[in-house]
Amino acid sequence: MNQTMIDLTEKYVYDQLKSDASGHDWFHIDRVRKLALHIAKEERKGNEFIIELAALLHDIPDDKLNRDADEGSKKLDEWFDEIKLEIDSVNAIKQIINTISYSSGQLKLPSIEAEIVQDADRLDAIGAIGIARTFAFGGKKGQPMFDPSLSIRENMTKEEYRTGKSSSIHHFYEKLLRLQDMLNTCTAKRIASERHEYMVRFLEEFNKEWDVRL
Ligand code: ADP
Ligand code: NI
Repeated sequence: MNQTMIDLTEKYVYDQLKSDASGHDWFHIDRVRKLALHIAKEERKGNEFIIELAALLHDIPDDKLNRDADEGSKKLDEWFDEIKLEIDSVNAIKQIINTISYSSGQLKLPSIEAEIVQDADRLDAIGAIGIARTFAFGGKKGQPMFDPSLSIRENMTKEEYRTGKSSSIHHFYEKLLRLQDMLNTCTAKRIASERHEYMVRFLEEFNKEWDVRL
């Protein structure tokens, strides 16, 4: 029964996100699912069914990928009706999805399952994949790869974070380099350190080539 719900959800999410070009495609979802289940196993914590469904569905209601937040949450509710998921699981999954996003700015998460899915989503935002996703997102949004005339923004509101003027290189300083210190589980912190170092080396190299230091 649970496996059937997971299989159906996997197919649904694949169909919804298979042609996304903003770094929130099906393969991002699949990596987050695998990372989240890995963290849960290592930490020996969390309900795996809730973690897997929440990881699969976490970007479905996202306001970036829908006309607005209302349209997104309606989509999610309709899917829960479709698979006839019982109400306690629906509530647990919605609570995870509504609290884990970086832009929601929530500091204390409501459950271990939320902590684990958030860590998995954040691990996929850093390292080599994180670099690739950032330039894919930036290109899709139409922002410059780098603009040295812009300054690095601190303490943005959600609106400023989404719509303010920035560049993809700025996004590393405004978010990605901070993620390592914002993880919840020891397992995720261990995985993050290599990915973090890789981004630091990438930025050093990028700056060197940008300045044409030969
Ligand atoms: P969350 O889903 O946790 O709210 P975001 O949607 O802000 O996080 O970011 C998801 C990914 O999209 C980031 O890890 C990054 O790769 C990309 N992204 C988001 N905002 C920007 C931006 N302003 N410039 C470049 N990439 C971005
Ligand atoms: Ni995500």
